[in-house]
Amino acid sequence: MATTEAQRPLRIAMVGHGAAAQAFVPALQNNPQFALVAIVENNAQVQASAKALGVPVFSQLEDLKQIAHLDGVYIATPTPCHAEQCIQALANGWHVLVEKPMSSNAAEALRMVSAAQQFGKTITVGHSHSFDAPIQAMRRIIQSGELGAVQMVNTWCYTDWVYRPRRPEELDPALGGGVTFRQGAHQIDILRALCGAKVQTVKAKVFNSDPQRQTIGAHAIYLDFENGSAATAIYNGYAGLSSMDWTHQVSEWGFLQTAEQRPWKRRPLQHATAEQELAAKQERAKTAIPASAPWQPHFGLTVVSCTLGDMRQTPEGILIATADGERELKLPHHLSPRDGVLEEIAEVWRGTGPGWHDGQWGYENLRICEAAIASAHSGREWVMTP
Ligand SMILES: NC(=O)c1ccc[n+]([C@@H]2O[C@H](COP(=O)([O-])OP(=O)(O)OC[C@H]3O[C@@H](n4cnc5c(N)ncnc54)[C@H](O)[C@@H]3O)[C@@H](O)[C@H]2O)c1
Repeated sequence: MATTEAQRPLRIAMVGHGAAAQAFVPALQNNPQFALVAIVENNAQVQASAKALGVPVFSQLEDLKQIAHLDGVYIATPTPCHAEQCIQALANGWHVLVEKPMSSNAAEALRMVSAAQQFGKTITVGHSHSFDAPIQAMRRIIQSGELGAVQMVNTWCYTDWVYRPRRPEELDPALGGGVTFRQGAHQIDILRALCGAKVQTVKAKVFNSDPQRQTIGAHAIYLDFENGSAATAIYNGYAGLSSMDWTHQVSEWGFLQTAEQRPWKRRPLQHATAEQELAAKQERAKTAIPASAPWQPHFGLTVVSCTLGDMRQTPEGILIATADGERELKLPHHLSPRDGVLEEIAEVWRGTGPGWHDGQWGYENLRICEAAIASAHSGREWVMTP
């Protein structure tokens, strides 16, 4: 029987084959809607491991012109590369899935959004943690109105982000580094997904607490939304307490990690050279984000308060507390957040669904991260322009 256009596997290439990209491989390989047809990677050592996937491996994005009928690319290079590669891909007639944060700053993101309009192709930003099944379930309940109006959403995440092996630009806020851009991109994404309205004002403090490891390593952000709801995002990446202590020891990727099992980095890399740190990062990329999790992913703890009840994640789904008592809604865990991203881009690339993590959505997330840093530097509340 002939394959119809709607069934034809979408031909996708990966650009960059580090931690984020390697995490996408199992979801791509298990999804019959997609065929991974090429990889672009400019580091010779990483190229060698990419070749194990059995597709052509190139050094530059332009080389992908040799691939026939390419539908789109997944850009998972370091953040400062995103804007130029995305615009180049759109100009070549390919759809784009770009990692978060979508670029190093909002001005670049705006150029990407304009390029998508100019070339008639789409941008999707992901993976981000609003693709997590518990966050999506809480969003559906809020939208259904069964808990009344959303009032407050608070999200807390405590990790060792600052001390994991990193490229220098990952720590530099001017290049989209530091926790407000890199991890705030997830938190703002979750808060906007759940509050469901435009952010009016942003007030924040950011912290650069270790002179040996200069970066924004922690933040406290308060958002005021147009529909009357309010939200806070707390992030501490200085490897003190872990928010897994409040999520039944379940990790960001849905695995049980007791305090003894956590591969936490507590300042061990201070004396490493940039080359040693890059080598450690490349090694970590092979296992940093495992697939097939037994529990729901927890990007810290997110608690939602509506007029008629509260909700939070549990290892198996979400807990809903109302005047009638508490009940747990169990959710399937066999699909990872990356499977959710693929579902969304399959619809968007085929033109059968709108998708909501588009370029405009990613641009707005980035604008709010920038506003948080600007508020912290000025000490004032930041009013978002329309
Ligand atoms: N969504 C998530 O959960 C998640 C997790 C980690 C990283 N990220 C994001 O993914 C992006 C990459 O981060 P990472 O930690 O995977 O970085 P990484 O350094 O592990 O991987 C980037 C890869 O891109 C390659 N590269 C660099 N320049 C290139 C170029 N011009 N052409 C082709 N390849 C090039 C590098 O050699 C490297 O292998 C960042 O934007 C980051 O914020 C997202």
